[in-house]
Amino acid sequence: MDNLKNLRGTVDLLPDQLIKWQNVEKIVLEQLKRSSIKEIRTPILEMTELFIRGIGEGTDVVSKEMYTFLDRGERSCTLRPEGTASVARALIQNGISSNPLQKLWYMGPMFRYERPQAGRQRQFHQLGVEFIGYESVRSDVEIIALAWDILKKLGIKELNLEINTLGDLSDRLNFQNNFLKWLKINKNALDLDSQNRIDKNPLRIFDSKNIQTKKILENAPRLVDFLSEKSRKRYSDLKKQLEILKIPYLENFNLVRGLDYYTHTAFEITSGSLGSQATVCGGGRYDDLIKQMGGPSTPAIGFAIGLERLILLAGKELEAPRNTDIYIINQGLISEILAMDLSRKLRNYDLIVELDLSGASFSKQFKKANKLKAKSIVVIGDDEAANKEFTIRLFDKASTENKELAISFEDDITLEKWLINNLLIK
Ligand code: HAM
Repeated sequence: MDNLKNLRGTVDLLPDQLIKWQNVEKIVLEQLKRSSIKEIRTPILEMTELFIRGIGEGTDVVSKEMYTFLDRGERSCTLRPEGTASVARALIQNGISSNPLQKLWYMGPMFRYERPQAGRQRQFHQLGVEFIGYESVRSDVEIIALAWDILKKLGIKELNLEINTLGDLSDRLNFQNNFLKWLKINKNALDLDSQNRIDKNPLRIFDSKNIQTKKILENAPRLVDFLSEKSRKRYSDLKKQLEILKIPYLENFNLVRGLDYYTHTAFEITSGSLGSQATVCGGGRYDDLIKQMGGPSTPAIGFAIGLERLILLAGKELEAPRNTDIYIINQGLISEILAMDLSRKLRNYDLIVELDLSGASFSKQFKKANKLKAKSIVVIGDDEAANKEFTIRLFDKASTENKELAISFEDDITLEKWLINNLLIK
C-alpha cells in the first residue's frame, strides 16, 4: 500500500520549524497585549451562507476557492477562508449592542483552494485584528500603525504600505456608472477574466494581473475622482496622519482588495523579499458589513497578516530554541525516581529541565547534554542516591570556580541560592 500523504497545499509544521513560529507568535501577541486588544475564537467551520453574504458571491474567494461540503445533516458547511465575516457573525449573535466598541484579534488556520506555491497554501494561517464600532479616521491610522509596528518589531525590512480609498456605497455607485460607460468602449481590449467581471463585479477589474489590461486601465476613470467631499476629506486626513507618524505609504488606485465588504480605506503591506506572493498584510474598513449581516449599523476596520509569509520574512535569529537550563543525568533504580522528583521541583522555577530517560551510560547522557548545549547538568547515580545528595554543575567556559556543588535532596535553600547565582532565576 502507498504511504499516506498530506493533502496538496497543506503542510506539517515540525518541532524545529515551530521554534520560529512560536518566537514570532510570542512577539506578535505581546504587541497586541500592549495595545489592549483582546482575543476572540470563532469556529473553523461555518455555514456557507455566512461567507456568501459576508465576502460576496462574485469574489474569487467565494466563487472559486472555498472548501464547501454537505455535512451529514445535509447542511452546506465551509471551512473558513478568512476571519472577518466570522467575527462579525459572532458579535451579532452574542449581542453587539451591549458592547459596541471592541478591539479584537484572532489567529488560526484558514482554507482557500488556490494553486499552491511559495507563500501560498490551501491551509494557511492568519493573524487578524478587527476594531469594531470605531468610525474615526484615527482608528484607521491606529490599525495601520499596529500592522506596521508588528512587522517592524519582527525586524522585517523592505516593507511597502499601499493605500487606497474605496469611498462609500454612493461614491462607488457614482463611479460605477461612469466606469461602466468606459468599460463598454474598452471591453474588447480587456482580458477575458476582466470582461466576465463587468456584469458581476466591475471594481474587481482593477485587481487584474494581466499586463495589457493594466496598461489600458491607466486611462480608466478613477474612483478617487468620484468621492464625495466627506469621503475625500477622510482620505486626505488619513494620509496626513500617516505622514505625522512617519509611516511611509504609496497610493495605489488599483488596490481594490479581493473581498466585497470594504468601504473607504483599503491597504496592503508588501515585501520585496517575498517573490510573487508579496502581500504579507491586507486590510481595510468595512462599515456596512455588520448591518448587511443583520446587525446594527456598526463601522469597523481590520487587517490580517499571513503567518506563513510572516515566518518567511522574520529573521533567522528567531529560529534558535531556548537552551535547556538543566540536563539531569541519572542511572540506577533509586536515582531514577529521585531524578524524576528533582526535575519537577526544578521546573517550578520556570527552568527548562530535560530529564534523561534513556538509561544509557553516564558518558552517553553527558554527551547528549553537551549536544543540547545545556547550561548545567545534574548528576544522580548510585553514590549520590546513597549519600542523599546530587551534584549540580554549570558549564561555564570562563571559570570553573565554585560552579559545581553537591546539594542534599532536602536542602532547598542551598539549591535556590545556586540557581539564583548561576542560572539567574529571580
Ligand atoms: P486577505 O487579503 O484575503 O484579507 O488575506 C490577508 C493575508 O492572508 C494576505 O495578505 C496573505 O498574507 C494571507 N493569505 C491569503 N491567502 C493566502 C494563502 N492562500 N496562502 C498563504 N497566505 C495567504 C483577509 O482575509 C481579510 N479578512 C483581512 C481583513 C481583516 N480585512 C479587514 N479585516
